Amino acid sequence: MEAPSARPADVYIHGTVPEEQARLSMLNDLLNGPSLDALGLMGGERILDVGSGLGQFTRQMARAAGPSGYVLGIERDAAQREQATQLAADAAEADLVTFRAGDATALPLTPDEQGTFDVVHTRFLLEHVIDPLAVVRQMVHAARPGGRIVLADDDHEVLRVWPEPPGLYDLWRAYYRVYDRLGNDPQVGRRLVSLLHEAGADPRRNTWIFFGSCSGEPRFRQFVENLIGVIDSARAAILAHAFFDETYFDETVASFRAWSQRPDAAIWYALSWAEGVKRAT
Ligand SMILES: C[S@@+](CC[C@H](N)C(=O)[O-])C[C@H]1O[C@@H](n2cnc3c(N)ncnc32)[C@H](O)[C@@H]1O
Repeated sequence: MEAPSARPADVYIHGTVPEEQARLSMLNDLLNGPSLDALGLMGGERILDVGSGLGQFTRQMARAAGPSGYVLGIERDAAQREQATQLAADAAEADLVTFRAGDATALPLTPDEQGTFDVVHTRFLLEHVIDPLAVVRQMVHAARPGGRIVLADDDHEVLRVWPEPPGLYDLWRAYYRVYDRLGNDPQVGRRLVSLLHEAGADPRRNTWIFFGSCSGEPRFRQFVENLIGVIDSARAAILAHAFFDETYFDETVASFRAWSQRPDAAIWYALSWAEGVKRAT
């Protein structure tokens, strides 16, 4: 008989089907510029990206770090790694980044690599793990003394949409309640500085990567479709928990799409972003 595992497995609620990978790519298009600005890379850094997904931002960091830099992406899911490798090859950037299989709660680093990274970064991962502190501790361990640990994640409550589309906030709440049913924290974004502190790093910066849009702005459709995409990726779980019934779910999504055609539609969101520094021992 198999021994019971010490801790429940983390579940990635969005899944890795091609539609979801396309949505993640769209989100990368929206966010990577401001995320890179926040990071302020100087060039030449050794960077570890934890939960690197499709690797678009991992490669963006590698481009900023330049030829004297080194970037390693750790990703648990084989389908994500395969697609990341393919996207890198398609962009003629196969040599830019190393993607390695592994779990964020037990980073697969050699003794030579541990404690050597200038920047240890993660984005949109802590909301998907049951024990984010365990991940941040691993990240602090991987950083060199004086190195930076950068956490970027969601606090789902910050969504604002106006004029209010019928049922949208209830549906959004139903979506992020699925996270806590899985044992994850949909508001982990507000805990980033605490997590850095608890993991033994000295918090140095705390900010938001803001993104807002309105009808008439070219990327407004991307915002709306990304929002619908994340909700839709959790459709089965939302229905299984009976937070919404099928008809109400579909009607609410349809009314949100119709709302997005309004000339006065406006939307705001912000990604929590915090940085800590590893103490010199
Ligand atoms: C929302 S994606 C974000 C990807 C990337 N960081 C970005 O910002 O585009 C989260 C990724 O974390 C991966 N993941 C989830 N739990 C993980 C774990 N425990 N260890 C490593 N990767 C994990 C998922 O497979 C997924 O590719």
